[in-house]
Amino acid sequence: MAVTIKSAREIALMREAGRLLGIVHEELGRAIRPGMSTKDIDRLGEKLIRSFGCTPNFLHYQGYPASICVSVNEEVVHGIPREDHILKEGDIVSLDAGLIYKGYHSDAARTHRVGKVSPEAEKLIAVTKQSFFEGIKKARAGNHLYDISNAIDAYVTSYGYGIVRALVGHGIGTKLHEEPQIPNFAQRRKGVRLQPGMTLAIEPMINMGTAEVVWLDDDWTVVTEDGAYSAHYENTVLITDGEPEILTLPL
Ligand code: MF3
Ligand code: CO
Repeated sequence: MAVTIKSAREIALMREAGRLLGIVHEELGRAIRPGMSTKDIDRLGEKLIRSFGCTPNFLHYQGYPASICVSVNEEVVHGIPREDHILKEGDIVSLDAGLIYKGYHSDAARTHRVGKVSPEAEKLIAVTKQSFFEGIKKARAGNHLYDISNAIDAYVTSYGYGIVRALVGHGIGTKLHEEPQIPNFAQRRKGVRLQPGMTLAIEPMINMGTAEVVWLDDDWTVVTEDGAYSAHYENTVLITDGEPEILTLPL
């Protein structure tokens, strides 16, 4: 399967899928506080998604048991929500969420502070978010896919952080994961030429220390090998004739 180009009708549906997910993230971000469990976040996220008449696309995806991936501190991604995992002041928590609206998927992630966090954690969150925006400066028709990867790498590497290589971004549309894969680290090849109508989930996962990650025994939770904190920031993005359109920010 090649990279899909969405029609005007499909783009309208992707926009709505993205807009609603942007609202879900905004609400989840507002709800975060010390004392809540990671399962509380999942419950709220699923409720919000269903309140829009949408379906959580992560739930049961390859056996994943929840609607929202909740990854705390050294957890990179795919943390499984638990009643007995309680957020505490100083934690950083990455929320990855997605939904299906009329057959079209959206996917986005944010890393939040729990109360007041260390300046180091603050900086990691900010650089991870900005690396996405550095990447999408290159997300223009006529450029190549790996221009995005290279831009993310150059920015993040200048801070000395580790860029996760074991997991990458992806195309998105009628499936959560479509071609192409989108690495967040520098590539020697150019990758596909970007065209209007491509929809891409760009999602840098950035570690304060080593780039190396390991999987916990639950076979989902990805953690940093050295136990240092990790942050994640993702949006679903539409390639256009001009500026890229970020579909998963609330309008
Ligand atoms: N943003 C994640 C990804 O693109 C969401 C998948 S999590 C899963 O892989 F639980 F659904 F697997
Ligand atoms: Co994704």
